[in-house]
Amino acid sequence: MLICQLSDLHLCREGIAAYRVVETNMLTERAFRAVAALHPHPDVLLLTGDLTFDGQDEEYQELLMLLRRHIEIPVFVIPGNHDRRVPMREQLGDLPGVSSHPHFIQYAIENYPVRIIMLDTLAPGADHGELCEERLAWLDTTLATVPNKPTLIGMHHPPFACGVEHMDKINLQNPGALAKIVAKHPQVERIVCGHVHRPITARFAQTICSIAPSAAHQVELALAPGARGAFVMEPAIAHLHRWTPQDGFVTHTAYVEPFPGPYPFLGDATAGP
Ligand SMILES: [Fe+2]
Repeated sequence: MLICQLSDLHLCREGIAAYRVVETNMLTERAFRAVAALHPHPDVLLLTGDLTFDGQDEEYQELLMLLRRHIEIPVFVIPGNHDRRVPMREQLGDLPGVSSHPHFIQYAIENYPVRIIMLDTLAPGADHGELCEERLAWLDTTLATVPNKPTLIGMHHPPFACGVEHMDKINLQNPGALAKIVAKHPQVERIVCGHVHRPITARFAQTICSIAPSAAHQVELALAPGARGAFVMEPAIAHLHRWTPQDGFVTHTAYVEPFPGPYPFLGDATAGP
């Protein structure tokens, strides 16, 4: 199974650039084009939050338009801190799972060799993420219903500190509660997040937690204490989580910008006829 993950699209209303600089709609379209050109095609596309810049109806409509134009595989979404549940549900309600929980945008994706649980970490009006008692209980119960199938959890806010201080202040605020649940369910092979706009990997509980960068702008690599927050236009990446029964999960990075090549390995030209 091939799971493609894009994150943090930050789509704006038509003609608007995020932070007056980033043409997020154009960059998301570029990323969708790259995903559509992947061979073999991924089985699913996960969009791990911050689908929009401001959670507006028109921004979700931009997403639908771009998906319709480029993406033919099933698409699964969760909210990030830039999203708002009500407009997201109203505009994206036809995407699978979006309308299944009465309070949150979270659901389990069955019928694939890997089970995927999309988990809502949004705290309305805040930049940080949280998992309240209701969501933690839902996760525990949902994991308990299928204990023996390899499982990947998708969520927006990462549950670990990465060293970029201004982002660590707004990550998941109660990682210990999540770790306790994950530790009870060893079938959780991966947790995949967004939010930090950088590719990062860490151990979490008994599993591996990765962060996919943004399909648009990235957060500056600033590990010095007290470093200011800033964004940069580092190359955007899609994560490709490949799972096979014999090898389990392996994650590849697929750049979404055009680049030269491929150049076939043809051997030493001087050795030819
Ligand atoms: Fe974001």
